[in-house]
Amino acid sequence: MKILSIESSCDETAAAVIEGREILSSVINTQVAEHKKYGGVVPEIASRRHSENISAVVDKAIADAGITYADIDAIAVTHAPGLIGALLVGVNFAKGLSLSLGVPLIPVHHLRSHIAANYLEHKDLKPPFLCLTVSGGNTLLTVVRDYTDFEIIGQTQDDAAGECLDKSARIMGLSYPGGVNLDKIATVADTAKYPLPTPHTAGKYDFSFSGLKTAVVNTVHNAEQKGIAIDVPVLAATVRQKVCDILIDHTLKAADEFGFDKIVLAGGVSANSELRSRLTAECERLGYSLYYPPLKLCGDNAAMVGAQALYEWESGNIADMSLNATATLQINYR
Ligand code: KG4
Repeated sequence: MKILSIESSCDETAAAVIEGREILSSVINTQVAEHKKYGGVVPEIASRRHSENISAVVDKAIADAGITYADIDAIAVTHAPGLIGALLVGVNFAKGLSLSLGVPLIPVHHLRSHIAANYLEHKDLKPPFLCLTVSGGNTLLTVVRDYTDFEIIGQTQDDAAGECLDKSARIMGLSYPGGVNLDKIATVADTAKYPLPTPHTAGKYDFSFSGLKTAVVNTVHNAEQKGIAIDVPVLAATVRQKVCDILIDHTLKAADEFGFDKIVLAGGVSANSELRSRLTAECERLGYSLYYPPLKLCGDNAAMVGAQALYEWESGNIADMSLNATATLQINYR
């Protein structure tokens, strides 16, 4: 079954052709350079660029796969969550294609697709497993009982880990996308020089990153007021270490309590070098199998949408022409 998948939830216009767990083509048109000028994604600009680019991106995905539109068996699209205007472009384009080709339309939840990026890399990976999904807008720990059956055991009560890293980077003068640049510049953490708080949450596996973000902002402002230069590589490493401490602590405790020996990482922040290396070492030490996507599949792409779409299709999740985009939707929706 060849699935043409479309992703436009934020600032990447992407399309791919997927057959099972094989990527036949994957095209990503990123708007990073344009949003960089504003220090973050400007939603209206994102929607306009998706509108301009989507047709060419989809055409290229078909051409790169060496097929024609007539070979497509289904259209998959990210319908939630994300920037509403951006999502609507992909959803409406996908509806038009589904209608004109006479093939089914499969709606895909953005975070489910981030998890599914792992299926493209790890051909033997099957639920059940414990998954830590960390991106710019979300941070959650889920039990993936089956491909379309998710139980949330913890999630952020305020900011996502990616938001904390992005805004910390911005206050330190690093350019957008901040999390990536913070990871590149970070050297060795120094908690004596830059003490940062450990956030507390009522839920054992919940997260909170807004206090940490504010602490970094205050650290920079206080230094500025006193005329003291910030050691950016050290502060960057200290924030990164704190975020990783929290993510790794919760994940390992949950794996132990729920009895999972398979741990999966997903989302844009799963590209973080410290998170990957420390979790790899901890999992080796404790005897867990750890899976994470290759770097090219950590950020937003359409290949992961197609990967999840196959399982949505098998579970009967097919949309009709009334499909709408939704800005917020929990991963365990039915
Ligand atoms: O999953 P994603 O591409 O978009 C969302 O769905 O949110 O994640 C984007 C997030 C941004 O916060 C970005 O700064 C972060 O992933 N990110 C990183 C790294 N690469 C991307 N954060 C830390 N270290 C990285 N290497």
